[in-house]
Amino acid sequence: MTVLLIGSSGFIGAAVMAQLIARGHRLRCTTRGDGHAGAEGVEFVQLDLKEALTHEAWQRHLDGIDVVINCAGIFEERDGQTFSVAHERAPKALFEASARARVRRVVQLSALGADDRAVSAFHLSKRAADTHLAALPVASHILYPSLVYGQAGDSAALFRRLAVLPLVLLPGGGRQQVQPVHLDDVADAVVRAAEADSGGCRRVALVGPRAVTFAGLLACLRHSLGFSHPAVVAALPTWLERPAIALGARLTGFPLGADALSMLERGSTADPAPFIALLGHPPRPVERFVGPTERPADRTLALLHWLLLLLRLSIAALWIWTAVVSLGLYPVNASLALLARVGAEGLFAHLLLYGAAAFDLVLGLLTVTLPATMRRPLWATQIALIVFYSVVIAVALPEFWLHPFGPLSKNLPLLAGLVLLLLIDTPAPHRPAKWTTRR
Ligand SMILES: NC(=O)c1ccc[n+]([C@@H]2O[C@H](COP(=O)([O-])OP(=O)(O)OC[C@H]3O[C@@H](n4cnc5c(N)ncnc54)[C@H](OP(=O)(O)O)[C@@H]3O)[C@@H](O)[C@H]2O)c1
Repeated sequence: MTVLLIGSSGFIGAAVMAQLIARGHRLRCTTRGDGHAGAEGVEFVQLDLKEALTHEAWQRHLDGIDVVINCAGIFEERDGQTFSVAHERAPKALFEASARARVRRVVQLSALGADDRAVSAFHLSKRAADTHLAALPVASHILYPSLVYGQAGDSAALFRRLAVLPLVLLPGGGRQQVQPVHLDDVADAVVRAAEADSGGCRRVALVGPRAVTFAGLLACLRHSLGFSHPAVVAALPTWLERPAIALGARLTGFPLGADALSMLERGSTADPAPFIALLGHPPRPVERFVGPTERPADRTLALLHWLLLLLRLSIAALWIWTAVVSLGLYPVNASLALLARVGAEGLFAHLLLYGAAAFDLVLGLLTVTLPATMRRPLWATQIALIVFYSVVIAVALPEFWLHPFGPLSKNLPLLAGLVLLLLIDTPAPHRPAKWTTRR
């Protein structure tokens, strides 16, 4: 069959696309990207949901299409994207156009919680589109995924990072009920729904085989990552929950906010029986989310996240402390005497002392505050500066190489740490490769 797939570049959409291709279906995928090739049997058309708010806008893309699958969506309103457009107005127009074009079936990826108890703007916008689809004269499956776990997913990376910590402070002590589902089962269910021949509108919650607490999920992941001792889990004081989540969002780049917290507090569980019937087998339990082949890399990357943070904070502290010491904690006369030995005296020596201290302070503050996308030049500057200082001191004050506390030789591991940061301190989000157009 020929499928129109919306959101094929996404975490779930990419997995659905791979399964559709593996099962021999032809695909027309919409994308906001531009540029180059896709796989054989896959056609790409450029489309932004913002510009597809009427059924006429979808009409030409539905030519020759048997099944429509909507995997597009957003988790937060930013960069001009709104829930109203991405979840409600564009999908409603798509569903209307699909009914008019008499496609065989529409598969809509909603979200667990987009029901009568929905309160968040995210869930309400999903529910509005789902209700519209259910009322249209076209066969449909509306699928409600719980938290989806996949190795490359941003939320999975965040959970693994929390799981490797020996002590975790969680809102409510992590007692919220969740029922995470594996990406492979979600993609399988979407494809099976697309291939189904039932009429009317079917609604299926895509959930794991059983509910676990959020702390239980982290404990399972910790065990799968090869840690034999359980972590100590404690409750975050309520007054600290929102600031801590805001800080977590800043440190991880993950869209954590008030909505994410209230969705977690509400719980995210459902009866797995309809999902098992659709799949034809039970979904993967949390205990098997991290496979033996994934374990070494997943464990190393999760630990590395915290070790890089530790390295970054300690380097920031080093620059800031050096600045504070140079500004007066160390006797200024002694500093000027050292500068005199490298040929700097009088006003020039004062300028050098206070200028270098101010520069160290700026470097320390930037080390803590600059976002990951902008830190590469910072690491390169620090490496160059330390090499320069080390060479000047080695020539003019060689006794520091021979000092038992190793004030200069300690620069060697510091340089190694900075090279590590230069090479791998990259932004956290990692998306599947985007398919783009050749037109
Ligand atoms: N992941 C989960 O745990 C989870 C759980 C429950 C429900 N869901 C739902 O499942 C759906 C897919 O989730 P996901 O995790 O795969 O999300 P994702 O990785 O963020 O992917 C979202 C997809 O939507 C596309 N998209 C976003 N805005 C667009 C626009 N204005 N025009 C065209 N395309 C646009 C993106 O295309 P670009 O590449 O162009 O940005 C991308 O392909 C969403 O509706 C989400 O609400 C996900």
